[in-house]
Amino acid sequence: MKIIVTGGLGFIGSHTVVELQNNGHEVVIIDNCSNSSKEVLKGITNITGITPIFEEFDLREKSKVNDFFNRHQDIAGVIHFAASKAVGESVKEPLLYYENNIATLIYILQELQKKDKASFIFSSSCTVYGQADELPITENAPVKPAESPYGNTKQIGEEIIRDTCKITSHLKAISLRYFNPIGAHPSAEIGELPIGVPQNLVPFITQTAIGLRDQLSVFGDTYPTPDGTAIRDYIHVVDLAKAHVVALERLLQDKNKDNYEVFNVGTGVGSSVLEVITSFEKATNTSLNYKIVDKREGDVIAAYADTHKANHDLGWKANSSLDEAMASAWTWEQKVRSK
Ligand code: WQD
Repeated sequence: MKIIVTGGLGFIGSHTVVELQNNGHEVVIIDNCSNSSKEVLKGITNITGITPIFEEFDLREKSKVNDFFNRHQDIAGVIHFAASKAVGESVKEPLLYYENNIATLIYILQELQKKDKASFIFSSSCTVYGQADELPITENAPVKPAESPYGNTKQIGEEIIRDTCKITSHLKAISLRYFNPIGAHPSAEIGELPIGVPQNLVPFITQTAIGLRDQLSVFGDTYPTPDGTAIRDYIHVVDLAKAHVVALERLLQDKNKDNYEVFNVGTGVGSSVLEVITSFEKATNTSLNYKIVDKREGDVIAAYADTHKANHDLGWKANSSLDEAMASAWTWEQKVRSK
C-alpha cells in the first residue's frame, strides 16, 4: 500500500520508513528538512535497497498539501511525524509551535476527510500525562494541563483527531503516545541527528562520550526515587518504529475496535538517569564524565508505560533492552563522527 510519512527524514520517521518498506509498503516521504537531512534517504536505501519517494515542501503551505494529495490519489494511509518537538523552544516560540504542529495536522485531516477511506497514525507523546498520579501509566490516566506549548500541541492534536473521526466514519486513526525514544538502527545507517546542543539525555551522553561535549549535567538527584534521579521509559527507536507498522496494519485490515484509538508505546520499564548512565558505561565499556546539577524546570519525577493495551490489542511488545539501545546509540555516534 502507498503510505505517506510526514517528517520521514527525522529520527523516528526514518526508522518507521525502514520498517514500512520491510513490510512491503510503498513509502512517500514529505519533509521540509528544517530539522533533518536528505542524507537520511541514502541511509534508508542502504538498509532496505529501496529509495522512498521524497517530496520536499512545508506542510504549513495548505495549497501544497492540497496539490500533493491531488497527485497521490492512491494513498492508503498517513503516518504524521512532522512537528516541532523541543519543549524549551516551545515555551519561547508558542505561535511557531501552534502553527507548525496544529495547522499542518488540520490540513492533512482535511485531505483525508475527502477520501473514501483513510488510515491515520499520529505521533503523540507521554507528555500529555504530565506527572501521572499512578505508575505505570495506562491510556486511561487523565490528560493533565500541559507543561509546555509543545505538550499542549499533542493534547490539542489528539482532540482534533478524535473529533474529526467522530463525524468521519471512513477515517480511522490511532494516536501513539511515545515514551522516550532512544538508540539507532543496528546497521548504524540511520539514527538521531540532533541539531545544535542536544536537549535529550541519550544524545547528550553519546556526544559527551565522543568528546563533543565536556560533561553531562544530570538534572537533579533529590527526586523521590531510589537513586534520587528522575525516571523515564526509554524505548529503542526500532521497537517504536515497529509499533507504527502494526498500528497501521490494524487500521488497514479493519481490526480496530473504534475509529479512534490511543496506545502507550514504551517498554513498561522505568530507568533513572543514573541507571541510563550505568547502562551506557557497561554497554560501551566507557566511563562518562558527568556532574549533578539543579533540577530542570518542567521535568516530571517519573513516567513509564503500562503497555498491556498495546501488547494485547496490537500484538506488539518492545524487544530491545536498555543496554542494547545504549550500545546502538554509541555505535551510531561513532559512525556519525567518523564521517
Ligand atoms: C530524560 C531525563 C532529564 C538531559 C522529552 C519530551 C518528550 C519527548 C522526549 C519529543 C530527564 C534528564 C536530560 C540532560 C539530564 N520529546 N536529563 N541531562 O524530558 O523525558 O522527554 O523528550 O517527542 O515529549 O518531553 O526527555 O531526554 O530530555 O530527559 O539529566 O542533559 O534525563 O532531567 O529526567 P524527557 P529528556
